[in-house]
Amino acid sequence: MLFGKSTHVTKEMVLAALSKIQEPELHRDLVTLNMVKEIEIAEGDVSFTITLTTPACPLRNQIESEARAAVAKLPGVRQVTVKFDAQVRADHRIGAKLNVPIKNIIAVGSGKGGVGKTTVSVNLAVALGQMGAKVGILDADIYGPNVPMMMGVSEMPPVVGEKMTPATAYGIEVMSIGFLVPEGEALVWRGPMLHSAIRQLFTDVAWSDPSAGSGQGLDYLIVDLPPGTGDAQLSLAQLVPLTGGIIVTTPQAVSLADARRGITAFQRLEVPVMGIIENMAGEVFGEGGGEHAAEALGVPFLGRVCLEPSIRQGGDAGEPAVVAQPDSEQAAVFRAVAQKVAAQVSVLNARRPAAPRSPIKLEMGAS
Ligand SMILES: Nc1ncnc2c1ncn2[C@@H]1O[C@H](COP(=O)(O)OP(=O)(O)OP(=O)(O)O)[C@@H](O)[C@H]1O
Ligand SMILES: [Mg+2]
Repeated sequence: MLFGKSTHVTKEMVLAALSKIQEPELHRDLVTLNMVKEIEIAEGDVSFTITLTTPACPLRNQIESEARAAVAKLPGVRQVTVKFDAQVRADHRIGAKLNVPIKNIIAVGSGKGGVGKTTVSVNLAVALGQMGAKVGILDADIYGPNVPMMMGVSEMPPVVGEKMTPATAYGIEVMSIGFLVPEGEALVWRGPMLHSAIRQLFTDVAWSDPSAGSGQGLDYLIVDLPPGTGDAQLSLAQLVPLTGGIIVTTPQAVSLADARRGITAFQRLEVPVMGIIENMAGEVFGEGGGEHAAEALGVPFLGRVCLEPSIRQGGDAGEPAVVAQPDSEQAAVFRAVAQKVAAQVSVLNARRPAAPRSPIKLEMGAS
């Protein structure tokens, strides 16, 4: 038995220690951010849970080691157990505008066709799902709805009741504009028809159906846009606030000029640009162009994916690289991109003012 110095650690002491630890991206401490719960103390054994703002948190290890060290220093502590869970914060503008159970929407675009938008979209979606997020993918590419093929699904389940049910693959909910229209027909659609089809893909689809036990809604909906800067982008952005946009480009100059236009289009629609992905890097198209463009345009560079036959094969076979070759270098790039995107979503949502309790009515008219 020791006398003198107190050897009893208390919950208050644990909280005080954790209030010195910063969330590295949100730049506020874990306690202020409400991330610490379930503190349990048994003799000198302390355990607690940290609730991350995304299961795809790239800095989990850093948070863990700093939190562990801070608590281990407290008097009387013998052992520290750090558990993690995650609660993805919502972009509240979405729920304020549309009654859909979707927390965040990330649009994937490109100035030019054929650069790998769909490939990036499916790998990003599946990677986020593999990390524990609830994810959907919406194929809004009227000219080439390829998401079903790359996800290995051919149709949605039969419609029962009022809403359409998304297909599922690799734990991801999949909905495609191609499910709504016969092949080829949509090519001649004009703006208003496209707009109403895109609206249906949000409002007439039972995303994250609570009766299926999925509860709180999709953490992330990835939207694969058609190439270019046309009607679909405009419709989508008018319909629902987009949490962020990603631009895919190949490394050569002609693609980069288009990528620039894609970024400008997002900016004009007030969609935060989360960054550029360089795809198909290697001997054929070169390398580094996407990174330079990101630098020149002042947007984040998210990663470089090489031109790899296995990626094309996975696309054709309906098995995204992160599933077919999880140990490959390219799968690791897709996972890193997923983490960077998830972290940006957390930061963007933390910067926004909290959601109003009820929708605020704007006074219109006379001024
Ligand atoms: N890094 C890569 N290595 C090898 N093949 C790739 C890579 N990225 C994409 N591909 C292949 O290139 C083709 C075009 O890719 P994808 O369909 O993803 O592009 P996209 O930008 O969505 O095209 P579109 O404008 O037609 O919608 C596909 O066959 C795909 O499998
Ligand atoms: Mg595509």
